[in-house]
Amino acid sequence: MAGEKINYEYITEYLHQILPETTGYLRAMEEYANKNDVPIIHKEMKAFLEVLCKVKKPDRILEIGSAIGYSASCMALACGNCCQITTIERDSDMTTLAINNFEKLGLSDQIRIIEGDAVEVLSCLTSKYDMIFIDAAKGYYNEFFEYAINLINDGGLIISDNVLYKGMTAEDSIVKRRQKTIVGRMREYLIMLCNHKKLTTSVIPIGDGVAVSIYNERGNDIE
Ligand SMILES: C[S@@+](CC[C@H](N)C(=O)[O-])C[C@H]1O[C@@H](n2cnc3c(N)ncnc32)[C@H](O)[C@@H]1O
Repeated sequence: MAGEKINYEYITEYLHQILPETTGYLRAMEEYANKNDVPIIHKEMKAFLEVLCKVKKPDRILEIGSAIGYSASCMALACGNCCQITTIERDSDMTTLAINNFEKLGLSDQIRIIEGDAVEVLSCLTSKYDMIFIDAAKGYYNEFFEYAINLINDGGLIISDNVLYKGMTAEDSIVKRRQKTIVGRMREYLIMLCNHKKLTTSVIPIGDGVAVSIYNERGNDIE
């Protein structure tokens, strides 16, 4: 089994072909990310997030893992200026780049970035969100989730990126030895998400795999 890609190469290439090219400053951010090996959301994931934003119309979004602020900017632009986004990043160079990018896109009033380790920052947050996008260290999704579940509004979406982790989550034979722990944790995370009594979850094999979970405060068993 090949690993690395979670979908047939020809499907991914086709999706990349039919989706429109990004233009303007977002395009410059993509080029910066490519040149500097900054992992940002895949093209098909960008389109999917934009659809979710337009369907859900969230007033408040929380993002865990900002990098240069690309996905936060995409969500802000898709939602329009009624939506407030809080994004968390532990790397100070990334934080500086993201702040600069938000300014260039005119999104500084809409996006607040908090620099710090997500677990520490999350433990200080109290207001709730309509959408939470988890896109940081894959080995810590379970810890992030413990906070996310208390910060999501009833009917809100928890979106977890990279859950199939280059296919390794689904298949033992392609798991690299040094990734074993992270893969084990991601498997536990997905099983928990899929079986959580207050969540309805769908795992979608686009990009690096994304799980979308809807939170139902009363629980799924109640009619
Ligand atoms: C995949 S990148 C985020 C990409 C971004 N969401 C986008 O698509 O434009 C992951 C980011 O999460 C940050 N990160 C990883 N673990 C973190 C943690 N525990 N707390 C805060 N940030 C973290 C990394 O520094 C990195 O910049």
